[in-house]
Amino acid sequence: MGRMDWAWKTIIEPFKIKSVEPLGFTTRSERETVLRDGGYNLFNVPADKVLIDLLTDSGTSAMSAEQWAGIMRGDESYAGARSFFRLQEVIRSLTGYREVIPVHQGRAAERILFQIIGGAGKTVIANSHFDTTRANVEVSGAEALDLPVAEAHQIDQPADFKGNMDTLALEAALKERGKDVPVVIMTVTNNSVGGQPVSMHNLREVSEICRHYKIPLLLDCARFAENAYFIKLREPGYAKRPVADIAREMFSYAQGCMMSAKKDALVNMGGFLALNDKELAKKAREVLIVGEGFTTYGGLAGRDLEAMAIGLQEILEEEYLSYRIRSIAYLADGLRRAQVPFIEPPGGHGVYVDAKRMLPHIPPEQYPGQALICELYRTGGIRGVEIGSLMFGRRRDGRFEPAAMELVRLAVPRRVYTQSHIDFVIEVFADLAARAASLRGLRLLEASEHLAHFTARLEPI
Ligand code: F0G
Repeated sequence: MGRMDWAWKTIIEPFKIKSVEPLGFTTRSERETVLRDGGYNLFNVPADKVLIDLLTDSGTSAMSAEQWAGIMRGDESYAGARSFFRLQEVIRSLTGYREVIPVHQGRAAERILFQIIGGAGKTVIANSHFDTTRANVEVSGAEALDLPVAEAHQIDQPADFKGNMDTLALEAALKERGKDVPVVIMTVTNNSVGGQPVSMHNLREVSEICRHYKIPLLLDCARFAENAYFIKLREPGYAKRPVADIAREMFSYAQGCMMSAKKDALVNMGGFLALNDKELAKKAREVLIVGEGFTTYGGLAGRDLEAMAIGLQEILEEEYLSYRIRSIAYLADGLRRAQVPFIEPPGGHGVYVDAKRMLPHIPPEQYPGQALICELYRTGGIRGVEIGSLMFGRRRDGRFEPAAMELVRLAVPRRVYTQSHIDFVIEVFADLAARAASLRGLRLLEASEHLAHFTARLEPI
């Protein structure tokens, strides 16, 4: 709780709305046509035809009046723009890292980093790599190893910090092949296991182990503020600490970070790499100039740097974070009442519905998660994303290997939807849950070998 130290039940959005965008209302038959034309792949649905878009929380935030004012103030100088120095100052005081390198989005920071420190024979270890992080590690020739805690796999068992790393497994891995590990990464919050937070205790332990083996620790800090707020809510000793302090402590256990600013910096495009290591930063800037742009803008406009600097400060306002975390929990409460199973507890940026349990009659090779998002769209014009066998299953030589989980992520954009939008989502889900047994699976018609979910075409069975 921030300065509003009273205990009303209503979750008040801590903003009023100055500029609005119409929603895309459609009829059921229009949506049916859109689905058919798009090969039952929601990535092929024009956003105008979506009523509530929960595809991602990335780059979809509403900027504040202050950020829009910053857009006008942005300094567009090629080198040494005022907006860069402002951003650098904000990042330095938040993270403590001296070397600040702007990039156009998170995966650019990943590409630059692993181009330098990755390579064949190396192993990068993380609590869990996000997909693009894994892809950039693997493209470099290195192996990406996930070491999440065991609780991360128990979908219906709530735990406070399911985003943590298994520290015993980390010790064992470093003992065995520490010399081949260029970096350990902690993703905060841990998107791949359900937007779950990492505890300060776990960060500290991982940091001590890394120091012992002399391996740098970096944060993938796309959702650092949501993680810091969970620590405040859940970890003993942090309830009275300002979130900004908690975030600074988190950063203090690592030697650098890479950030997709499209999440917790409340901008539509942007990212950065921030480091202590001057030598590594020098190499990163060389790669940056070749592929992204000069060192003080890294593929962004000056106005983007300005908006990012402001967003990084606004995200730490406790009224905002209280609203953010409570409103995701509100969506989860509604789904729970409708008996929709999901990863417990809900994460910081969304709810991950368990399609395998909700649609037990649809086998993995008929993509229950995809069937669920298609029906969600058909019924209510709502768009979610499948994180299951369409995204992660393997199809080779006519054989099918399912993913470990069949999930549907409902990611909530920041400061975009109000409580009644969420009430609508809950209402549609309740309708769907009541007739879950009648839903049918999908047949895959065509898919590329890599990142199949973006281009796949399917048809109802
Ligand atoms: N790291 C994490 C933890 C992420 O969630 C993402 C993106 C990235 C890195 C890559 O950043 O998109 O700016 O290049 N996640 C988005 C999502 C795409 O929908 O979860 P990017």
